[in-house]
Amino acid sequence: MLRVEGLSHAFKNGNETTLVLQQIDFRVNKGDMVALLGSSGSGKSTLLNLMAGLMKPTEGSIYIADHNIVKMNENKLAEFRREHIGFIFQAYELIPNLTVRENIELPLVFQSTRPSIRKQKALKLLEQVGIPDKGEMFPSQLSGGQQQRVSIARSLITEPSVIFADEPTGNLDTKTEEEILAILKHLNKTMNTTFIIVTHEREVAQQTQHIITLRDGLLEKSQPAVEMDKLPVEEAVH
Ligand SMILES: Nc1ncnc2c1ncn2[C@@H]1O[C@H](COP(=O)(O)OP(=O)(O)OP(=O)(O)O)[C@@H](O)[C@H]1O
Ligand SMILES: [Mg+2]
Repeated sequence: MLRVEGLSHAFKNGNETTLVLQQIDFRVNKGDMVALLGSSGSGKSTLLNLMAGLMKPTEGSIYIADHNIVKMNENKLAEFRREHIGFIFQAYELIPNLTVRENIELPLVFQSTRPSIRKQKALKLLEQVGIPDKGEMFPSQLSGGQQQRVSIARSLITEPSVIFADEPTGNLDTKTEEEILAILKHLNKTMNTTFIIVTHEREVAQQTQHIITLRDGLLEKSQPAVEMDKLPVEEAVH
């Protein structure tokens, strides 16, 4: 479903070049829920943004459903992103002057979906993320956890093949974090959507099926979450 091969990335600032990711290789199966774990500055967001097609790597390939997104031109990539990729941000990124329902419907507005169909899908998702009665409110009238539920619903409305989430519970207290993780796990199971979740918390990562660990831009290990700390690294890497 997702395949990263020989991926390297360097940022250039004037004469200075910072190598942030070095020769990363891994693959993710369809329907998996994967955590991307690593300390601050290890390159997690950079890797996620590259996989979501938000920027181009210096080197390497990223295949999503057998399409190498690195090779796509701007227009093709924009279209591919709209159809296949969902994104959840730490800071929710909702539009303040649109209602909750309108925020959720937005990706479908760009696909020219009929309003009645958009509404029907948004209402169903509002129910699935546990806030069926909040559709006509504005984001500022919701708690942080509720706003993140809206952002999750928005990411799902196009039924993407894969959803990338950058520290989706980073701004939330522990109890709300657990609720949001439970929702993501439930959606992953029921909709068979692939989730890649960036986190720097081992407790969050351990709730997923698979953990990819980055250290200073290098892939440290890739292994099933449930068997973490049990398997020798060599056996777990694949
Ligand atoms: N646009 C940029 N220009 C130059 N360097 C950058 C840029 N973006 C990120 N970096 C550098 O790349 C490295 C990795 O950053 P990245 O944001 O991917 O880390 P992260 O693992 O997501 O960290 P955090 O947990 O703090 O979010 C850092 O050293 C950072 O300073
Ligand atoms: Mg980050």
